[in-house]
Amino acid sequence: MSFKAVVLVGGPQKGTRFRPLSLQLPKPLFPIAGVPLIEHHIDQLCQLSGLSEILLLGFFPTDLFTEFIDRCQKTYRVSIKYLEEPNPLGTAGGLVSFKNTILSGDPDAVFVINADVCGDLPIEDMGAKIDSISGSSMLMLTTEATRQQSINFGSVVTDSNGKVVHYVDKPTTFVSTNISCGVYLMKTEVIRQLDLPLNGDGIWLETDVLPQLAASGNLYALHTTRWWSQTKTAAAVLYANRHYLRLYKKRYAARLCKNGAQIIGDVFIDPSAKVHPTAKIGPNVSIGPNSVIGKGVRIKESIILPEAVIEENACVLQSVIGWRSVVGVWARIEGIPLEPNPNLPFAKMDNKPLFLPDGRLTPSLTILGSDVSVAPETIILNCVVLPYKELTCSYKNQIIL
Ligand code: GTP
Repeated sequence: MSFKAVVLVGGPQKGTRFRPLSLQLPKPLFPIAGVPLIEHHIDQLCQLSGLSEILLLGFFPTDLFTEFIDRCQKTYRVSIKYLEEPNPLGTAGGLVSFKNTILSGDPDAVFVINADVCGDLPIEDMGAKIDSISGSSMLMLTTEATRQQSINFGSVVTDSNGKVVHYVDKPTTFVSTNISCGVYLMKTEVIRQLDLPLNGDGIWLETDVLPQLAASGNLYALHTTRWWSQTKTAAAVLYANRHYLRLYKKRYAARLCKNGAQIIGDVFIDPSAKVHPTAKIGPNVSIGPNSVIGKGVRIKESIILPEAVIEENACVLQSVIGWRSVVGVWARIEGIPLEPNPNLPFAKMDNKPLFLPDGRLTPSLTILGSDVSVAPETIILNCVVLPYKELTCSYKNQIIL
């Protein structure tokens, strides 16, 4: 079979729960395990033989993706294009609007993937399954959630053959623990037949397309027990980081060997980063390009973004350190371990609100935005710090604007 893929990247008004990490660059380009979020999707899609093109569909300005696309086309030797929606058209609106481009070359089926999911996606199994289904049909990837979590997702009820008999997006009461992963594979005819009128509200797969396909008996599910989650909130990046590191261990292990630091567990260090041999790094740490990690530094369960500097004997635990931020000597940046237990391969991140009912910040990781400086010998515990702040004393449980 021949395939194309569309990755729904959204736009600047989306990803608000990802702030302050999405203030600097589009959320789909945020590096996790050393690789932009959607590059993981591209990498996994490219394992499929018969894939001719990947289209990124969104309402970000095109130029934000130009460099990324140029690099990925060379790395993965696949055609990648960005299709810019003039305004948000909804998750299915762009499929209607750019139908001719998507269907050019006459692929047999088209993957449609939400950019803000992460996981070990069974792309090949989906390709094989759609081949065995006749008619103008669509396949959706499903996974298991708890009863309580399921109402925040698309709920799916299937018969014993995997045919979806009922689909409802974010139901108000419990329907099923089977949820949609936001990963679809559509026979070409399904996209050709999408002729809903484009209006100001957009066209949505979740409400305008999937329930109707289920009702007409043309929607099927492939259930996965592999790792899958969403990357809606900034807190989700450490969870995704841990699992992508594990998934891509073999590839990153080769780079690690060149580094003299003491490494524990799964760690990614960009080759351009300078890490002192006495630093102790890991598990589950990603260190970005041109960052500097000083003597005696300890980093655990964290992402250090490009050009950040962690000075001598500082400690970074359960945190994200923004681009060009500087953590002073003997400072301690610490977040609170996430629930559910991120060691579980199959845990779903609960999209908890930023504040607890009593007004306190929900305990989570510490995030330093870009260009933040932290004074020596201070403690920053469970805080979200916006870009360009100079922290001269210790802070706990605060959003620092
Ligand atoms: P929330 O929980 O409210 O975020 O809803 P959701 O999980 O159903 O997500 P949503 O439908 O907002 O988005 C699903 C995916 O589609 C994400 O990757 C978005 O970036 C993307 N997306 C959302 N709206 C649009 C749109 O208008 N155009 C495009 N191209 N992508 C979109």
